[in-house]
Amino acid sequence: MQKSDATQVILKILQQAEDSGDKTHRSYGPRELGGAFDLAPSKHGQRLVEIEQFVSDYMKFSSPTQSKAFMNQLWSQVEPSSLVGEVLAAVTNTSMYTYEVAPLATLLEQSLVKHLSSKVWGEAGDGVMTSGGTASNLQALMIARNERLQESKEHGLSGGVKKPYILASKEAHYSIKRACNILGLGHAGLIEVEADSDGRMMGSAVESAIAEVEKLAGHVVAVVATAGTTVKGAFDDILGIGEVCKRQKVWFHVDGAYGASVLLSESHRDLMQGGSLADSVSWDFHKMLGLHLPAAFVFVRKKGLLKKSLASGNDDYLFHDEDDLDLGPKSLQCGRRADVVKLWLSWMAQGERGFSERIDGLFNAASVMRDLIEKDHNFVLVAKPQSINVCFRYNSPDGIRHEKSIRTRMLEEGSAILNYSEDSQGPFFRLAITRPDLTTSDLRGLLDLISTIGGEYASTSRSRPQLR
Ligand SMILES: Cc1ncc(COP(=O)(O)O)c(C=O)c1O
Repeated sequence: MQKSDATQVILKILQQAEDSGDKTHRSYGPRELGGAFDLAPSKHGQRLVEIEQFVSDYMKFSSPTQSKAFMNQLWSQVEPSSLVGEVLAAVTNTSMYTYEVAPLATLLEQSLVKHLSSKVWGEAGDGVMTSGGTASNLQALMIARNERLQESKEHGLSGGVKKPYILASKEAHYSIKRACNILGLGHAGLIEVEADSDGRMMGSAVESAIAEVEKLAGHVVAVVATAGTTVKGAFDDILGIGEVCKRQKVWFHVDGAYGASVLLSESHRDLMQGGSLADSVSWDFHKMLGLHLPAAFVFVRKKGLLKKSLASGNDDYLFHDEDDLDLGPKSLQCGRRADVVKLWLSWMAQGERGFSERIDGLFNAASVMRDLIEKDHNFVLVAKPQSINVCFRYNSPDGIRHEKSIRTRMLEEGSAILNYSEDSQGPFFRLAITRPDLTTSDLRGLLDLISTIGGEYASTSRSRPQLR
């Protein structure tokens, strides 16, 4: 393909995205989708017209993440200035490992690491951008393991007398369990601590869990508090847990992949109270702040640990830097995209004030939804929302849990894409507010849609003869 053809296709993509705006569509199953495309990789290069057709179809059949009806994940939409950054990063294609090949991007990332880590600790710590919260959690917990079990980096875990454990809430993200697996602790190395009914892990529960582990001659390497849990959006008792960790000399990691962004909001930053006690923090910008996936950081309070935990000594073919500018030695990745460019452009366009207003808008929309649910006998909250997730059930007149069927119907019709989770009482809807422009009427509309479909399911189940 010629460069000029590529430019033509790219402009068409942007135009099609502009034209499709807020439109939604029904979902397509793999058979239907597979039937609509030739999925065999082509042997010979195809013509521009065929490439353009594929690109257009790809967009048509993609999940309608730009629509207000898309409420399924902790992210949605395209933030325009972040899109400009994405294009800039793609067009200038480079890797973040050395200053030499990513000079300005390196300085931008260093500047943001300084600024953002100061939001956590009041003074600059260290940090690096990652491929997402999962990688940030893994990297932070690897540093914790290496610092608490000094021999583990060079010799692995076999030498220790005491079995190492990581503690996290039952409601923590699955990436913590995966990290235990990858770091050699195994799934059994994760102790899942009970959360309260609103989904918060408390300092007292962590203190008891540490005592239990020690009674069994185990060794707690790290405790993970979650700032914004994936399902309930709950903020653990970060201050209380941090104080326990300091007393017990345990590494304290805050998984703020979802919620650390509240640090940029004057009204909501108190939710991160105690965050300055953390040894490390994960923070995603592609969730609450709406940037393109991925835009994530891991921060570590003590400078030097990122490099120390990774240094392997066989990388001098790449790193010739004598001024300590290269970011590669701090990263789990070798080749790494310049994700910082989109964050920088978003920051330029919105300013910190814009980020703060965005967060406040998300919280406002979540509180509108909570009020609507509390006033509507058709619905019940599953937990008191602490941030921007609202978990609720449909009170079906027939007493049957129809949430999954309602969700599937909405997905098939393309009327709404709304996720669910489950607890001991069965499934419930998890609405994550990811765009501040959701109005009261949008949210009321969603509840009305659920009531209408739920009512239909309830009347069919009641008219059906009961088996005895
Ligand atoms: C609390 C929490 N931590 C970590 C992650 C993983 O983040 P990522 O999807 O960026 O890997 C998620 C994802 O939803 C999350 O909710």
